[in-house]
Amino acid sequence: MFTRFRRKRLNPVLRDLLQETHLSVNDFIYPLFIKSGEGIKKEVESMPGVFQMSIDEVLKECEVLKSLKIYSIILFGIPETKDSVGSDAMCEHGIIASSIRAIKKAHPDMFVVTDLCFCEYTDHGHCGVLDPVLETVDNDITLGNLAKQALIHAQAGADMIAPSGMMDGMITTIREGLDAGGFSHIPIMSYSTKFSSAYYGPFRDVAESSPSFGDRRSYQMNSANRKEAILESLADEAEGADILMVKPALAYLDIVRDIKENSSLPLAVYNVSGEYSMLKMAAKAGVIDYERVMMETMIGFKRAGADIIISYHAKEVAELLK
Ligand code: PBG
Ligand code: ZN
Repeated sequence: MFTRFRRKRLNPVLRDLLQETHLSVNDFIYPLFIKSGEGIKKEVESMPGVFQMSIDEVLKECEVLKSLKIYSIILFGIPETKDSVGSDAMCEHGIIASSIRAIKKAHPDMFVVTDLCFCEYTDHGHCGVLDPVLETVDNDITLGNLAKQALIHAQAGADMIAPSGMMDGMITTIREGLDAGGFSHIPIMSYSTKFSSAYYGPFRDVAESSPSFGDRRSYQMNSANRKEAILESLADEAEGADILMVKPALAYLDIVRDIKENSSLPLAVYNVSGEYSMLKMAAKAGVIDYERVMMETMIGFKRAGADIIISYHAKEVAELLK
């Protein structure tokens, strides 16, 4: 009988040689919430360290991000006015289109991803146009609007479009719209497997996007379904998505692994607001070693199969990786 060497006395250099998973600042996309106005930098109570910012403040924030070597951001808009269809999102003077132009002008080296959805822009807070009879989103009318929104973002200078509304057929429609508009070089990162989740709670405070009635269960996935979760992502791959995503991340690492094994596309996880707030609040209460728990969580995402991590922790992680 033979035995392997005794890891108890592992040489630290060998420990590094044997490390299977590595975190890098290049893995991260940092979310930003942009509001119209000037000089606004308002911390969100439920998400310490996360702010609603006006465009001028966002430009300063990009400076900070670059000093940390974070070059990828994903933008969320809080418009001045909301209406039944979410017009601000389809207007070249809307909050996101204006933000993209300002950011790309001041920081052409930033990679600007835009979240493509309507829940922050509609007065009812749902992710698209409502069907008055069914009182839920009208999938097909919303598709046309998503293509418009994607084109507005691309024309303003967005580098990647990330549709998050889970509408059926959204990737095909957006791809066709972008190609027809001369933007065949702009990739689509689909929120391809997005669960209906209570972990989005704090996000809805910061993005001011809680549905005024009902919930998103008719278009987001049941968290109990594994096979459907894989099918949803594979359907988006077949429609031409360039990057897939699982959201939320922590409670769905089995799905991350499943999708990674079923698709050769790059895979992102969205480490969502509730996941972030839980660590922050536990740290505040003094019950965890915040930095260690945070890094352990991030490594867990990568070990499960994530290539990209969208996270409110990105700046803190970058600081530690320095
Ligand atoms: C918009 C969108 C949401 C999130 C990302 N894009 C909210 C939602 O689906 O309700 C959630 C992100 C988070 O919780 O951090 N559709
Ligand atoms: Zn939405």
